[in-house]
Amino acid sequence: MKLENDLLLRAARGQKIERTPVWLMRQAGRILPEYRQIRNALSGFKELVETPQLAAEVTIQPVDILNVDAAIIFSDILVVPESMGLSYEMVEKKGPYFSKTIKTSNDIKNISIPDVHDNLSYVFEAIKITKSELKGKVPLIGFAGAPWTIFAYMIEGQGSKTFSKAKSFLYREPELSHQLLGLITETTIAYLKAQISSGADLVQLFDSWAGILTHQQYEEFGMKYVYKICEAIHEAPVTVFAKGAYSALENMKGLKCETIGLDWNMSISEAKTIFQNQKTLQGNLDPCVLYGDYNLIKQKTKEMLNSFAGHRHIANLGHGVYPDVSPDHVKCFIETVKSN
Ligand code: CP3
Repeated sequence: MKLENDLLLRAARGQKIERTPVWLMRQAGRILPEYRQIRNALSGFKELVETPQLAAEVTIQPVDILNVDAAIIFSDILVVPESMGLSYEMVEKKGPYFSKTIKTSNDIKNISIPDVHDNLSYVFEAIKITKSELKGKVPLIGFAGAPWTIFAYMIEGQGSKTFSKAKSFLYREPELSHQLLGLITETTIAYLKAQISSGADLVQLFDSWAGILTHQQYEEFGMKYVYKICEAIHEAPVTVFAKGAYSALENMKGLKCETIGLDWNMSISEAKTIFQNQKTLQGNLDPCVLYGDYNLIKQKTKEMLNSFAGHRHIANLGHGVYPDVSPDHVKCFIETVKSN
């Protein structure tokens, strides 16, 4: 089906665009009362993720309510470790929790590369329903966690400020680490390809914990696998968002991907110098700006757009939108980008 608004895809490919496209990481979720209404009627987050019709509905909400230029499929990066044998719970007000984690080589023996078509069919079903209900209005973004970030949850078992168990595992058990990262990479490639064949128009890799590794560790255990995934995905444009990986930007020039996500700490001018318009940059307004009044939001959004001027760009925040931000403030950000 031909897309009515394909700004995001043209911007990703570096083609001509009439204006900068805009969407928000974590736009499908708790900022919208319409989301909370659906979510509160269910047993929890996982039921929503695993019910394709409802996942499709909350995926489309921000397109209708906020008028963003793309939808992102409602799911979570943690469905991948679950499909490999480590199931998780989403604990209310706390976050993810895995009762089993990886500690030894024996634990890795129990990890398998799943048949994603079978194990993660609910995600592909949600993508198909979303594509049909979007009726070509805007592109649909698929996603996965990057191998290092998924590895971090598999070792740590929950969120952490330092991810010190996962990080020290890299030092203590480099071979086992590569073995596990390889299994995650293979699963992720199959998973992203299946998302694309189900209808995802672009896919994004989230390396949310890239920034806690040393430069050397990230090159060896992080970026190496991001390279492999980008090499394998030819079917749709790819975005790589490696939060906090400032020192890896230079090395990301060689990635076979179209777009690089920048967090709010990354220097736009440095990124422009590195990428020389050969890739699209995505980001990077500080999500906290959205707590400000309309004047502040407009001013900071325009400053951000001006800083990216002259370079291929997709407007977004520097990380996910915070759950207690008012939807009207989010709309102000979106409208400011659109009218610039
Ligand atoms: O709108 C979208 O961006 C699509 C949906 C989406 C979710 N998670 C839904 C979600 C996406 C793209 C993610 C990615 C994700 N999940 C990441 C990478 C992006 C990032 O923020 O760095 C990570 C690290 C996770 C793991 C995860 N999921 C955590 C740590 C938590 C708890 C903390 C939190 O942010 O809520 C989740 C839960 C989660 N994932 C919720 C949603 C809407 C909240 C659960 C709820 O509704 O109760």
